[in-house]
Amino acid sequence: MASNLVINGSEKFNAEIIVPGDKSITHRALMIGALSNGICKISNYLQSDDCINTITVLKKLGVSINTYEDNSLTINGKGLKSLKKPKNNLDAGNSGTLIRLLSGILSMQDFTSTITGDLSLQSRPMSRIIEPLIKMGAVIQSSKNKPPLEFSKPLARDCCNEKIQIASAQVKSCLILASLFVDGESIIIENTKTRDHTERLLQYFDYDIKIDDNIIKLHGNQSLFAKDVVVPNDFSSASFFIVATLLKKDSQVLIKDVCINKYRIGLINILKKMGGKIEFQNLRTNCNEDIADISVSYSELHSIDISGQIISSLIDELPILFIACACASGKSVISDIKELRYKESDRIQSMEKGLRELGVDVSSTASSISIIGGNINGGIVDSFDDHRVAMSFAISGIISSKPITILKTNNIATSFPNFIDTLRKINVEVYEI
Ligand code: S3P
Repeated sequence: MASNLVINGSEKFNAEIIVPGDKSITHRALMIGALSNGICKISNYLQSDDCINTITVLKKLGVSINTYEDNSLTINGKGLKSLKKPKNNLDAGNSGTLIRLLSGILSMQDFTSTITGDLSLQSRPMSRIIEPLIKMGAVIQSSKNKPPLEFSKPLARDCCNEKIQIASAQVKSCLILASLFVDGESIIIENTKTRDHTERLLQYFDYDIKIDDNIIKLHGNQSLFAKDVVVPNDFSSASFFIVATLLKKDSQVLIKDVCINKYRIGLINILKKMGGKIEFQNLRTNCNEDIADISVSYSELHSIDISGQIISSLIDELPILFIACACASGKSVISDIKELRYKESDRIQSMEKGLRELGVDVSSTASSISIIGGNINGGIVDSFDDHRVAMSFAISGIISSKPITILKTNNIATSFPNFIDTLRKINVEVYEI
């Protein structure tokens, strides 16, 4: 991936596209497959930097994984107690999901291990997992609750009994995975429901986990039976092309085989309220996840105000939603988004700076952003090394009056390695410099 991109507009398009496999599900399928008994084949897994780091880390923990040319892999799982002490430190790269989910597993092992990541990851808060894991008996060393995290043999393996205050699927999943290693019943309660891929995948692997609205109950030390998993395509990657199509006059797209997990698709509800023509077709279920083809047509968008519980269901789509708001008529206000400040970059700040560069009237508070829709001018924007910021500004280049240069776009490879090819499929003029 080149380090900068120039987007010089696009022609109208009518395309069928396929985005890569789901990142959240790939991470989880790898980790749960590694703890299961038997051979688990994972097809259509996401071959992005983040997920490749998960494979590398699991191999360092003694898990046998073979990858194949057809975008599938097999894991020869040897069960919950099979992980081995790694020879070196583990590297989670840029991935919050990898470090937070795997910490649940590492914290309950008899061996010591250390996991760290890149500069962005080293600045992200880990107290949200460290504190509840310590309550379960984990022994974790860190400096100011930031990576590197060093795990020693736990003092105890007590049941998890946690009411999670922030809306975070990573925290919930970390605690579920830690609870797999504990005798007795763990109870995890979410204040706000978040993506439930971990719960669905455990159920798919025949693990007895009970979900009653926002209460999750599971007994540890059951067996996980290896199953084949077909990873559906990633809604978060699709979201860039949904917005691109809504913005580009006379354009249409069909995005195939996308996971439409109900805790992930808040963006669809919001874009529809803004006037977007979007339909789910060919609805089905596979490997315990809901899937559809998403059809989108150009639409005139108007502004929206959003806040509250819906935010967690579009948390990763907020940057691209900001682009939609910048092109919609009227003033949009999006509140309760403080969590955006703790992502791969401070996404309120990164998006505000870039939008302003492009001539958009934008302002923010600690936990909200206001965007007045209008024209997007050309210019040079910094992605702050954040994949979703980079891809969002690339989409804004489709309808800007002059070219847009986006700096530091290497990190697009963490989630969407063929993003540029997919842009070209919808007639975008893009240069890698
Ligand atoms: C994810 C959860 C979300 C999301 C991230 C992926 C997951 O993070 O932003 O990209 O796979 O569980 P939080 O749990 O921090 O909200």
